[in-house]
Amino acid sequence: MVTVPKFTQRKSAGPPLVVLTAYDAPTAQAAEAAGVDALLVGDSLGNVILGERDTMRVTVDDMVHHTRAVSRVRERALLIADMPWMSYHLTPAEAASNAARLIREGGADAVKLEGGENRVDAVRAILDCEIPVMGHVGLTPQSVLAMGGFKVQGRSEEQADRIVEDARALTDAGVFSIVLEGIPVEVARRVTDAVSVPTIGIGAGHACDGQVLVYHDLLGLSPGKSPKFVRRYAQLFEASVDAIRHWATDVRDGTFPGPDETY
Ligand code: KIV
Repeated sequence: MVTVPKFTQRKSAGPPLVVLTAYDAPTAQAAEAAGVDALLVGDSLGNVILGERDTMRVTVDDMVHHTRAVSRVRERALLIADMPWMSYHLTPAEAASNAARLIREGGADAVKLEGGENRVDAVRAILDCEIPVMGHVGLTPQSVLAMGGFKVQGRSEEQADRIVEDARALTDAGVFSIVLEGIPVEVARRVTDAVSVPTIGIGAGHACDGQVLVYHDLLGLSPGKSPKFVRRYAQLFEASVDAIRHWATDVRDGTFPGPDETY
């Protein structure tokens, strides 16, 4: 079983950490069968499962529902659940009780939240309830409105310094790992060198202690183009359309079901 301490120890030993998003039983089962180190029930759920434009409409109830489905089939991987927008922004007490729902009702081992120094009070309150927290800095999708789009962060010296300081503040507060999203490789290297916990990159280059991808991006499960940093290892959307079309043709031709294709 991958526990939070085992995950954190991989900062200094072992191969890079492998984290994949999962949203339901079949995605979790495939990721487990492939031997990933951690499953992240990301609020990217909003985009890839619920058909939303961004993550801002995802609720704690949505996250609990999907985390529970993943936890029912989880075998070995660490299970991390995202805290959605507005579930940890108002008061530390509210942050802690929303995090507790993801643990108690969802079955997660840890929670992830976005932000840096501005979220330290929330991080501390959650940790105070014995719930491990993962940080997330750089391109934080819950800030899409404030950022004016999904834009790479940390290109200016000032922004890069801010990201390093945010990662330090989160580490000092006690997070067990930090996601670095959408930042230049040199900034990701600076953060990785500056903190004692593993950094997990997405669109942040090779200098991190591990990598995370969205399940649907890796497998080509969504229609349309993937972001530039994604390497698609399969084209499952096209494969699904082909298979469904084939079945529909067989039904229309009267060749499905065959004589033995019955209960
Ligand atoms: O929601 C998500 O899938 C994430 C990853 C992109 C890190 O936060």
